[in-house]
Formats: sequence, structure tokens, C-alpha cells
Amino acid sequence: MKTLYFAGGCFWGVARFFSGVPGVQKAVAGYANGRTPDPTYAEVYSDLTGYAETVEVEYDGRQVDAATLSRLFFCIIDPVSLNRQGEDIGTRYRTGIYYPDLEQAEAIRPVWEERRQKAGASFAVEFRPLENFYPAEEEHQDYLEKHPGGYCHLGPKIFRYLQLWSDARSLLEGEADPVAVMALLSALIQQRMRFFWTGFYRVVDGTLVLGPFQGDVACLRIGYGKGVCGSAWAEDRTLVVPDVEQFEGHIACSTLSRSEIVVPVHDAEGRVAAVLDIDSTETDTFDASDAAWLELICYLCRL
Ligand code: SME
Repeated sequence: MKTLYFAGGCFWGVARFFSGVPGVQKAVAGYANGRTPDPTYAEVYSDLTGYAETVEVEYDGRQVDAATLSRLFFCIIDPVSLNRQGEDIGTRYRTGIYYPDLEQAEAIRPVWEERRQKAGASFAVEFRPLENFYPAEEEHQDYLEKHPGGYCHLGPKIFRYLQLWSDARSLLEGEADPVAVMALLSALIQQRMRFFWTGFYRVVDGTLVLGPFQGDVACLRIGYGKGVCGSAWAEDRTLVVPDVEQFEGHIACSTLSRSEIVVPVHDAEGRVAAVLDIDSTETDTFDASDAAWLELICYLCRL
């Protein structure tokens, strides 16, 4: 069994989140990297002790690894929010990954670096050795199981995505055929999240060609740099479009589509091999959290 420490805002929600990850045996709410020994909740709450509300995640390395846990962690935090997550403000709500040994540190570093580069100068996620950790009082353990409907800064969408990711991972285990993978993922995403259109366009001979999808009939081919899909491919980054009418060159496969997200899918060499395109009939459907989750899901289908 291995242990890692994640500070991601209020530990009630973070503990509930990690306890739902397959391979995690235990998620203990506590206080890490502060000054005074054995602090109480009230002392940490004063924000004078230097502690961060942190979750100790005990996991079975055969089922889930440190890099995957870190990728999941980046799906539940705002990495550019300093000392604040959701409505919770204070240094005790800072974000960080605290590692107890160098082996785990080396496994996590590329994930942290990638996120740091994406986020730019405001990146606020610590990456440090664990100095100390004290479990919180019993009333804070399994808090949201004891208080269903209690305060949780992580919204329901996060828990729906966690279930989706975890089901996709087990359903796709051992499957290498790209069309099968894309077919299963588009059906699963569409079924669980109830979007308007979910599908893949594959890169074939220098153009995007329609692949497995769920929803209305869509255009068959999209050129490099064209529309949202072709732009995400050319720029090799996720594009979140809150209002398709504001996106110059948007290709309207359906007049009902109002907002959209497109995520590049990479092959083993890191080249864009396809894009995942999701449309909604409402404006402003997708945000940075959708982007992080869908990137993680696309990571499952290295083509
Ligand atoms: N709107 C996309 C085209 C694909 S359809 O949304 C399914 C775009 O602008 O690339």
C-alpha cells in the first residue's frame, strides 16, 4: 500500500472524492505541512498554524498509480486560485501535492509540470515533500457520508465525471482497437452526461473524418484549422466555446448547437490522432472542469 497527500480545498469533499476512486483503500481528512504539533480544527481554522486541509490517500499501486491520482486531483481543483477553492478562503485551503518519497515525486512531476505550463504565471499548486500530517478529529472523517447533502465545494458534475471515467477505464481495459474505443466512449459520455452531440473526428490523410458518434447526422470532413474541431487539432489544445456564434469559422452541423468543447486525442508519439467534439443546445455548458475531465478521458484512448 502507498500513500499520497492532496490539499484541494475543504477536505470533506476531497476525501469523499478520493474514496470513490478505484484502488483507493482509505481517504483520511487531516492537516499537513504546518508548524504546531497535533493541531485542532479550530486552530487550523484560525489560519495561523500554516496547515493545509489535506487528504491522506492510501492506495493499491496495482490498481491506480500516483500519476493517475494526480491527474484526477487536477480535475477537482482550480489550479490558478491562490488560497481559495470554491467559497472557502484562507491558506488552509491552498492547493498542493505533498509526497512522502522521491519515487512518487518523480511519477507525479511530469503531470504537475504539464499543468503548470498550461496554467501560466498564476499557477498556485504546491508540489513539496510531506513535512507532517495529523488526521483530523473523528467528526471530520467520512463527513459527507455522515451528513448526506452537507456542504461540499465540489459540485455533482465532478462525481458524475468520476463515475464515467472509472467505468470507461474498466470497460476499455485491454482494448486496443481505436474505433471500438471511440464508439464505446461516445456512447458512454452521451448516456451519462446527456449532451446534444458527442463524437470523434479522426485524422485521416491530413483531414478530420467523422468517426463514431452519438446524435444527429454531422458533417463528414473538416479541414486542418477549420471550424472548432480543425482549430483544436491545429493548435493542439482543448477549445471551450461558450457561444458558437462568437467563434469565427464555426461549422454548424446542426442549428441547435449553441456551445461546444473540442479535445485533442493523441497517439503514443504525442501527435493528434483525433478530436473529441461535444455540443450542447445551451450556451455556456462547458468550463475548465469539463476540459480537465474530458482530457483525462481522452487520455484513456491513446490511439
Ligand atoms: N461544430 C464543429 C463541427 C462538428 S459538429 O459540431 C458535430 C466545428 O466547428 O468544428
